[in-house]
Amino acid sequence: MDNFEDKSREALANPQNVGEMEDADAVGTAGSADCGDMLRMWLKFSEKDGKKVIDRASFQSFGCQTAIAVASMATELLKGKSVEEARRLSPDELTGALGPLPPMKIHCGQLVEGALQSALTGGDPAPPTDAAGSSATLAQSMAQQPKSGIKIVPLDD
Ligand code: FES
Repeated sequence: MDNFEDKSREALANPQNVGEMEDADAVGTAGSADCGDMLRMWLKFSEKDGKKVIDRASFQSFGCQTAIAVASMATELLKGKSVEEARRLSPDELTGALGPLPPMKIHCGQLVEGALQSALTGGDPAPPTDAAGSSATLAQSMAQQPKSGIKIVPLDD
């Protein structure tokens, strides 16, 4: 049976639903205080039997391989879920076939959960726009993060 590393590698070989969604109804961004990585998730809703359901989900990430693998699994798993069902998904459930994350990787799953919950609860505040009126990309959002105050000084030989 495949272990977590094998399953993660498989998911990374062909990540699903990567990229900005032009016609999204909601977008949420989360950053990890543990590692500084960021992930943004877009959701497109539709209606099924009178309920608002997630029709599609996509993501972009400046994150580790685990975050990308989890986001790939999660965006597949979200299809057809009602907003309420999606809200109740735990980080463990979002990992899908990857199974529970190793302790060192739990915050990577929480990054995905954070972006999803952000999108489901009103999403990002009005994104900053540039002079041309385009909203900030994930790379621009990341560059606007407050600096940590850590100074890296190269060591002399
Ligand atoms: Fe940062 Fe995984 S190490 S999200």
